[in-house]
Amino acid sequence: MSTSPYQGTANSAPIKRTVTVKTLRDMKSSGEKIAALTAYDASFAALLDDVGVDIQLVGDSLGNVIQGLDSTLPVSVDDMIYHARAVATQCRHGLRMVDMPFMSYWSIDTALQNAARLMKEGGAQMVKLECTQAQEAIIRALVNEGIPVCAHLGLRPQSVHKLGGYRVQGRDAAAAEAMLIEAQRLQDAGADVLLLEAVPASLAAQITQQVEVPVIGIGAGSDCDGQVLVLYDILAITPGKRPKFSKDFLANGGDIRAAIQTYVNDVKAKRFPSSEHSFT
Ligand code: KIV
Repeated sequence: MSTSPYQGTANSAPIKRTVTVKTLRDMKSSGEKIAALTAYDASFAALLDDVGVDIQLVGDSLGNVIQGLDSTLPVSVDDMIYHARAVATQCRHGLRMVDMPFMSYWSIDTALQNAARLMKEGGAQMVKLECTQAQEAIIRALVNEGIPVCAHLGLRPQSVHKLGGYRVQGRDAAAAEAMLIEAQRLQDAGADVLLLEAVPASLAAQITQQVEVPVIGIGAGSDCDGQVLVLYDILAITPGKRPKFSKDFLANGGDIRAAIQTYVNDVKAKRFPSSEHSFT
């Protein structure tokens, strides 16, 4: 199993791997863990690319960590394009995933128009939607147009008011069963990647085993095919309380580059997350 972001033969200089949807599928098959982080600007995008981060997610968490808001709801498509475009200038090897913000995919036409803008103007290579099975038809429509899609399940911050807060999802048997069915249906609708946020580790492991597409976790235990965290959380510069599932990778000294490299190495070597950063 390769844990290097570089490929090449003994006789050639290493060539940095460019991550595509196919690379992610191959990583799932080979058991190589996918290391993802959020990115919002060109300078960090260059650093993450250099360190070998597989997916750079331009998350609508920029509403919290860049704009200082208490939710992601006010983030606009224009905000996403502004940050995605900056990241796209420097992220050349990692796959660029960009969030579709709140109410930018309320109908099939709206979703198609906004996803097209994120790709054409923001350089997105995959869009991410917070989903229940209500978004199945939208995923089908996006995929039919050749747009790669990540379906974000579990804790969906855009639905915070409906969910009654930032809570772990899928804890009781009925909710767990519903999420298993949802994951399968969204994969069958064409989602290329699933992302599980704040889901009990055992349920996330079951979903990861059940579906063929790669599953990225955040607060979803160590058995997912990969992990994602908010960059500013792992550098411990997010103001206020940081989520239990995050970890301060700068705490043991070193510099920002070393902290990001440690995160990537720990995900690849299955040292992160531990049970301390997971839910039961
Ligand atoms: O917006 C974001 O950063 C996200 C991650 C928390 C997964 O969706």
